[in-house]
Formats: sequence, structure tokens, C-alpha cells
Amino acid sequence: MKCAIILAGGKGTRMKSEEPKVMCEVIFDPMIYHVISSVLEANIEDICVITGYKHEIVEEYISALQGNISHGYQREQLGTGHAVMQARGFIIDHLDDEILILNGDGPLMDKDTINKSYDYHMQNNNAITLVSAIVDDTDGIGHIKRDDKGNLLRIVEHKDATEEEKKISEANAGTYWLHGSDLLYAIDNITNNNVQNEYYLTDSLEILINKGKNVGAYVCENSEVILGANDRKQLNTLNNIMRRNINDAHMLNGVDIPCTDGVMIGRDVKIGKNTRVLPNTIIKGCTVIGDNCVIGPNTWIEDSVVGNDVILDNCKILDSTVEDGVDAGPFVKVRANSILKKGVHIGNFVEVKNSVVGEGSKSAHLTYIGDSDVGKDVNFGCGTVTCNYDGKVKSRCTIGDGAFIGCNTNLIAPVEVGEQAYIAAGSTITDSIPDKALSIARAKQVNKEGWVDIKKPYKEKK
Ligand code: UD1
Ligand code: CA
Repeated sequence: MKCAIILAGGKGTRMKSEEPKVMCEVIFDPMIYHVISSVLEANIEDICVITGYKHEIVEEYISALQGNISHGYQREQLGTGHAVMQARGFIIDHLDDEILILNGDGPLMDKDTINKSYDYHMQNNNAITLVSAIVDDTDGIGHIKRDDKGNLLRIVEHKDATEEEKKISEANAGTYWLHGSDLLYAIDNITNNNVQNEYYLTDSLEILINKGKNVGAYVCENSEVILGANDRKQLNTLNNIMRRNINDAHMLNGVDIPCTDGVMIGRDVKIGKNTRVLPNTIIKGCTVIGDNCVIGPNTWIEDSVVGNDVILDNCKILDSTVEDGVDAGPFVKVRANSILKKGVHIGNFVEVKNSVVGEGSKSAHLTYIGDSDVGKDVNFGCGTVTCNYDGKVKSRCTIGDGAFIGCNTNLIAPVEVGEQAYIAAGSTITDSIPDKALSIARAKQVNKEGWVDIKKPYKEKK
């Protein structure tokens, strides 16, 4: 059996954030989300997160995630070893299991590295297997010290290292596999006898070597997976790497991204073949996009479902469904809980909120469709407004199939427009309209002939 402990108690002072460090985001998800996702992707479901600084924020966040995620609370942040000590009960429940420990601030750790290091750990019958990598920038890392034959000796933290040790370029990833009972033995023997007076989890290696146990390091080929972030500059580096990785994976799946500038796609987003994503496009959350679409430029899509053959040009789409063949934009906002059915056309400066727009309906310009149920093949003239809010309550408009709404119409909700009804331009509609009726709701035009000559409203020029 496998399980995992994720360390997430640190404050992360250098982030200068109000939130715990692990809540800082990489491609729109907190770092801890990426770590948990990689663990779940490796089919490890039993996870204990150690929280500390502003623990309630992390606890609330993880409680909403899938998986069997428990937490332990570290009241004072006395080091990574001390953090694991807070999971004592969890470890005792898993004495015969293999326990994966990860830093919550290392969001690039991937399922392949987790799986491969596990295989290595099992093949060598190790008590502890570290994950390591050869890095260029050794600042702040734990250096992996080996003897002349390459056998592991111990991990020396950068702050404790001699000048000679600081030159060691093999870095500790902060990811480890330990056999449960060996982990319990290690945490019971870690002391805080070092420069930082912290309980270092990394001392487990030396403790288990001294006990005569098998130990090993799985050296990963791609050193990027071990990168963490302690400040916002490093966070930007992680964003760039993850952004590139995600974009590359989509391109290899047949998504066309001719220029990746400003293209940021969340880790869980799915995009179909032959869909083209243009610059400055952000796609987040659990969004799913179909085949043969053109998304962007300058488009933001969040937690939405987009069908096939859809064009979204300069749009913001939130929590909504956009069906096949919809063509929207430029400058369109679709707010939560909306459905644009097949073949809908939404043009410039149109906002849709909490509404269903039926198949083939068109709203080409300058319109607000809020809290409305719109049928098929409805035509909205330029400047139509559903007046859904009276200052106290929001009400719905219902518009039947084939209705024609003239330009500059106000529909004062609640109101029903019948099927194939016509509304004359400039009408303010307060009462429902029967099917196939023409409704005109505006003052009748009056022409006063000769009025200018009588009133002489302008000064006559000499
Ligand atoms: C740690 C390792 C170092 C390794 C590096 C990789 C130790 C002593 N050092 O150093 O060898 O190269 O990770 O990134 O383990 N945390 C707690 N409680 C604490 C302290 C930390 O929960 O009391 C959590 C932090 O929130 C963080 C993780 O543990 O998610 C790592 O802590 P951090 O202080 O960043 O360790 P590093 O100095 O990076
Ligand atoms: Ca760190």
C-alpha cells in the first residue's frame, strides 16, 4: 500500500503574501493543488497534509478536493522533520506501507517521477529513497553528500554547508519514499542540532544509514521537476515552466497554438483536436473545449464547456456552456449559468448572464440578456436590454421561438414575448406579448410643421 504526507505548514515570508506559501498559485492553482494532483495521478489516494501557518485556509481548501485527504496541524514551524512528527498517528496507521513525503511548495513534481522513484525504492528494498537532481543553482538547496564510491552519506542543508559542500550540485528534491516503520524510527531520532535549530527531515537519511538500512537516491533526468518557489520571482519561473509543459502537451495532442504568447492553460483543461488557441488566451478550471474551434485572441474561459466548431474572439466565458457552432465576439461576456445553444451568434458588446439562448438565435450588437429564457431563432436588435433588476428582486424574461426584437427595446422583467412576435424598435415592453403579435410601446410621433419659423430657436446670422 502507498500513502503520502505533504508538508504545507510554512509561512513563506519571502512571498510577501497574506496566505500560506503553498496557496500561492502556479497557472491559477495553488502550489499544493499541483502536488496533490500529481499524487492522485500516481494513484495514491490516502494523503495527510501538514498545515501550520494560517492552517484554516489550507484545511478549507483541501477539504473541497477529491481523495481521502486528512490533515495534521503543526502549531509552530520548527522544521520539516518536526512537520512530519505531526503525522505520527498517520504513520502508525501505515507502518507496513510505503510513505511518500513531498514539499507542498514543489508544484512541478510529476506522477512519472513519483512512480519511477517508487519502483526504484521497491527494487532496492530501501528504507528511504530520496529524489535528487543535478542543478545549476545550488542556493538554498540540501546538498547530497556521497562517499568516493558514490554511496549516500547524508544531506547537508545549504546554510549548514562548508564552502566545499556548497559546490555539490546534486540537490535534494524534498520528495522521499520511506517504509512506514523506518519513518517512525527516523522521526523519533531527529534532533535540532544545526545552524537553524530546526528539526530537519533530511537527517532521516543519516539516521537510517546508521541503523544499517538500505538507502538510495533516485536521480531524475529532468531537474525541473524538483524546483520549488520561495519568492515571487521563482514563482514566475515555475509558471513559465508549467505553462510551457501544458502548452506542449496540448500541441502534441493536436491543438494548434501558433504563438504561445500569453497563452495560459490550466492543468485540468481539456481541448480537442484541430482547435486553434490564439495569443493572450487564458483557459482555466475544469473547462472542456471540443474540436475545430478558434479560441482567442484575448479570451478568458473559466469552468465552462465549449462544443465543436466554436469561435470565441475576445470573449470572457464564465461557468457556462457554449454549444457547437456558436460564434461569439469580439468583446462578449457570458456570465455564470448561461447556455448558448447550437449555432447562436453573439456579436460585439453583448453580455449574457444566467440565461439560455436557444438554437440559432442572434444578438449581433450592444445587448444585455440577463435572467432570460430565449427560444430558437430569435433576433435581438441592436441595443436590446432585458431590465431584470428593479433594485430589489431579479425577474426573468421569456422570449418565444422566432421572435423579432426591434432595436433599442427594453424588456421590463418579468415579461413574456410570444413565439414569432414582433417588437417595434424603441419599445419599452412592460406587458407580455401574445404569439405572432406586433407590439409597439413608444410615444406616437408628432410633426409640428413650420415650428422653427415661429419659435425662431436659433439666432439668425446676419
Ligand atoms: C527543503 C529541504 C532541502 C531540499 C528542499 C527542496 C529540509 C530541511 N530541507 O528545504 O534539503 O533541497 O526542501 O525544495 O527539509 N514546512 C512545514 N513546517 C516547517 C517547515 C517547513 O510544513 O516547520 C513545509 C513548507 O511549507 C514547505 C516544505 O515544508 O512546503 C519545505 O520547507 P522549506 O522551508 O521550504 O524547506 P527548504 O528550505 O526549501
Ligand atoms: Ca522550499
